[in-house]
Amino acid sequence: PSPNITVVGSINMDLVFRTPRMPAVGETISGHEFVQIKGGKGANQAVAAARQGAVTTLIACVGNDAYGQQSLSGLHADDIVTDFISIINHCATGVAGIFVDDSGHNSIVIAPGANAQLSPSHIDAAKHAISSATLLLCQCETPLATVSAAIQIAHEHGVKVVFNPAPAIPLPDALLAKVSYLIVNETEAEQLSGIKVTNLTTAQTASKNLLNRGAACVLLTMGEQGVCITEQHNSQHIPAIKVTVIDTTAAGDTFVGAFATAIGLGLSTIEAAKQAQYSAALTVTKLGAQSSIPTKAEVERFMVEQLKV
Ligand code: RIB
Ligand code: NA
Repeated sequence: PSPNITVVGSINMDLVFRTPRMPAVGETISGHEFVQIKGGKGANQAVAAARQGAVTTLIACVGNDAYGQQSLSGLHADDIVTDFISIINHCATGVAGIFVDDSGHNSIVIAPGANAQLSPSHIDAAKHAISSATLLLCQCETPLATVSAAIQIAHEHGVKVVFNPAPAIPLPDALLAKVSYLIVNETEAEQLSGIKVTNLTTAQTASKNLLNRGAACVLLTMGEQGVCITEQHNSQHIPAIKVTVIDTTAAGDTFVGAFATAIGLGLSTIEAAKQAQYSAALTVTKLGAQSSIPTKAEVERFMVEQLKV
């Protein structure tokens, strides 16, 4: 049966500029093109879970504007339950200004808008969607008090929590103790643990630190260096899948959403991480956030192709 995944998080409209290189401070350069693409870490992770077959509910806020309406229709097209998405008056939908250069690197500035209005009372109103879920998914583009309220409900009802603290902010150990799977990249791992992550050894040290602070399992995603999975008595590394990088935007989100779905389906941590890696690898080969998140069929085809080479 399909797992029920409830996501608490952000919705952004991504305003993407493809450019040959990043402009320096004070510099103006001519880019290749501009595209508007649906994004936001919460919405991206919900889309990734839904495209892998999870019954997905997103708890979020948009503004009463065109970007908000466009975001909602995108979520409907992916069969995501939007009953708990509030439309906030006199507030803009979240926007991300994204520069993507020819090597696929990006720089992002976010204007949170309505995402900053997602409050613990919204979580309270959606309590059942969390307590009845197989899994709760959260990030840090909405207020921490709101994320904490959601995690608390999940914890009280024995619902597994997948937490992707991105962008990283200081987190209390009491919150980490309620997290089943903490998913971080190198930067987030460093900001949370104080340990600079450059290779497998430092990745393990940082992961152990986060385990000691309460997380039950830490997945440290390291792009071309693969994924490091650390639990109390066990640490494993899975190498990256080699692909041509077009745009890494939403690769992390795709990993998180696909991982959560696979865990919800009953796969082991390592098997779920492997599947999520295939999904994330495909995301890297296309421009944009939700425009690049693959379906289950696309991932299955890709896995077969990869096993042949
Ligand atoms: O993780 C990628 C996302 O981060 C983008 O879609 C952008 O909206 C920012 O929130
Ligand atoms: Na992408």
